Amino acid sequence: MKEQSIFTNLNFMNKKMIENLVKNGDTVVDATLGNGHDALFLGKLIGPEGKLLGFDIQNLAVKKSSKRMKDEGISNYSFINESHDKIDQYIDEASAIVFNLGYLPGASREITTRGTTTLEAIKKSVKILKKPGLISIMFYTGHPGGTEEMDMVLSYVKELDKKEFDVLEFKHINGIKTAPFLLIIYKKGE
Ligand SMILES: C[S@@+](CC[C@H](N)C(=O)[O-])C[C@H]1O[C@@H](n2cnc3c(N)ncnc32)[C@H](O)[C@@H]1O
Repeated sequence: MKEQSIFTNLNFMNKKMIENLVKNGDTVVDATLGNGHDALFLGKLIGPEGKLLGFDIQNLAVKKSSKRMKDEGISNYSFINESHDKIDQYIDEASAIVFNLGYLPGASREITTRGTTTLEAIKKSVKILKKPGLISIMFYTGHPGGTEEMDMVLSYVKELDKKEFDVLEFKHINGIKTAPFLLIIYKKGE
């Protein structure tokens, strides 16, 4: 089996941070369902008492993710074929909101997340987030529009009030230029 280390695998690091914060019975959001890997992780983490809300603009992603959950016998979820910038129409509060941006692996590379809607969704997520709470955003800059999307979000999060938020970035700087980039927005507890 491949080595799982927070230093070699940003996804693994991301999961460790989410696990550190999310508790059994929490409400969490997967803002980009894709193939349902993150949703399955979140669904297991919150347990049967928790609530997982998921969004994707592609019906294929909603179907694939739902199948993944059913195959594992998990039913604490509600998946919506809708853009994540409508998040506030579906939920008032969540302890973790997870974005894994870009295109759906195995499907069209033309359908990707976009800067304007991603930024809107993140602004709304910041309001919905519980204290303490975490938004995690995985960026990929190898596809058209990916760098612009990241820059738009970065200019917004840099201005978040230090008293209320910690904003952290993680990236391999000795790897390829288009290595994934992980951003964490942590809303401090009361
Ligand atoms: C990299 S994939 C997500 C991977 C997924 N989290 C997983 O575990 O397999 C990105 C997904 O974002 C979706 N997406 C693109 N724009 C979106 C939007 N405005 N709202 C919600 N999902 C969107 C794409 O359809 C694609 O399925």
